[in-house]
Amino acid sequence: MTKLNIEVVNKSVPLSSGVAYVFGVGSYKDKLQISDSLVETSSLAKVDLKALGAKTTFEHMTRLQGPDGSIYLAVGLGDEELNDEQFRQLAGAAVRNLGDIEKVVIGLPTNSSSASLAVIEGALLAHYEFTEYKSVKKSRKLTDVTVLAREVPFSAQIDEAKTVVEAINLVRDMVNTAPNDLYPQTFAALMQKAARGKGVTVEIWDEKRLTAEKCSGILSVGKGSVRPPRLVKIEYKPRGAKKHLALVGKGITFDTGGLTLKPGLGMLGMKYDMTGAATVGHAALAIAALKLNVRVTAYMCVAENMPSGTATRPSDIIKYRNGKTVEITNTDAEGRLVMADGLILASEQKPDLIIDVATLTGGARVALGVRTTGLMGVGAGIDTLVEAANKSGEALWAMPLPKELRALLNSETADMVNSKLGDPTGSMLVGGHFLKEFVGYHDREKKNQIDWAHLDIAGPASNDGAPFGYTGKGASGVMLRTLVQVAKSL
Ligand code: BES
Ligand code: ZN
Ligand code: ZN
Repeated sequence: MTKLNIEVVNKSVPLSSGVAYVFGVGSYKDKLQISDSLVETSSLAKVDLKALGAKTTFEHMTRLQGPDGSIYLAVGLGDEELNDEQFRQLAGAAVRNLGDIEKVVIGLPTNSSSASLAVIEGALLAHYEFTEYKSVKKSRKLTDVTVLAREVPFSAQIDEAKTVVEAINLVRDMVNTAPNDLYPQTFAALMQKAARGKGVTVEIWDEKRLTAEKCSGILSVGKGSVRPPRLVKIEYKPRGAKKHLALVGKGITFDTGGLTLKPGLGMLGMKYDMTGAATVGHAALAIAALKLNVRVTAYMCVAENMPSGTATRPSDIIKYRNGKTVEITNTDAEGRLVMADGLILASEQKPDLIIDVATLTGGARVALGVRTTGLMGVGAGIDTLVEAANKSGEALWAMPLPKELRALLNSETADMVNSKLGDPTGSMLVGGHFLKEFVGYHDREKKNQIDWAHLDIAGPASNDGAPFGYTGKGASGVMLRTLVQVAKSL
């Protein structure tokens, strides 16, 4: 990936040869029109853009010849009023459609500095590509982005956007890496490397330490693999921080289902099952890099879920470090087993808020599709996340934890089962119920459970469909922006 030079200019620039100039087209009184833009488009005044194929459909791209060898890119703006996230998407779509062009000038109809900043973010996010395994790398040629905007963001804001996008891209790299290269030890090593110089402490618990600490979920899921599991803990503790945010991430480096084996098609793509852990780890590092004044502890629960002679059997019962017992009826519901350890550890610190991120259930995809994150939680968890996602522009929807579904986790012999085999009822919500059982209390007598939010990112974590907006194929790095936003809001 080439590094992008970003420049923001608050006036028109002369058109030059080989450079692409992006402007929006919308409709006004049913007629297609070039929308307000600092891009010089006077040569198009008498051109019938519609006849040349331009459309106002959101993200629709039309390339036109501009004066003196310049290139115009007319982008459909849709027919709604545009918010920052839509500017982010439009800029991303433009950047993805540049082919071999090296320089682009973007003049979208933004009218606030936050919208201009969104354009920058969209361009940076869309520029990501993953070519690690290609013997012949056909990389993007883009090197320079100039954003034309009447309202210019502060350079500190641009730097912050760059830091956040870099963190997102590191998540994408880890998720896109093949599971024969990315497994618990290498996951831990990569995190440790990324953490260097960021002013955080990193702890890596190996299988011995996990045993000593009674992290039975991670151990139970990991024991079918020849690659032993890990817990990675990153702590950022700035002096004077008044609030403590705990993050917990699901880090299944590959999910075969274990002995409750997934069918071939269902197993495809399961390298992405460590997205939650990568997301919370890099979010913590981004928060540290931004020097936000909030204490953050991230717990990454990392294991490979494999079937073997040493694997956990359906019917095995495990006992957690908080005393709770779980009968494992389905070894494919492994995410909640490893997350339970992280939630217990996080709860012991009595943080102000716990957020967990996991590709937890196929049910989340059934319920919400593949672009929206499912949110469940207790206390202020829900509201805090909804507000943060509104600011970051990421799609998230609050779901209930209906009381009656809790009964689906009742066990004859242990405190709970991890899943009722063959009953897909409210699968995402039952997953939420299971996790909730492991969220601690400030004071159990007073029944004041720690504020908690659970993000099921099984849908949007990876894009297997066509690219859209700033999202290409593969890992998306979704929810990292929202986590940083939460840290800011605390
Ligand atoms: N990693 C999967 C979740 C998943 C499934 C993501 C399909 C994307 C597509 C998780 O470990 C899993 O297998 N969940 C089970 C839970 C069930 C057994 C309660 C599921 O959703 O089928
Ligand atoms: Zn599974
Ligand atoms: Zn899984």
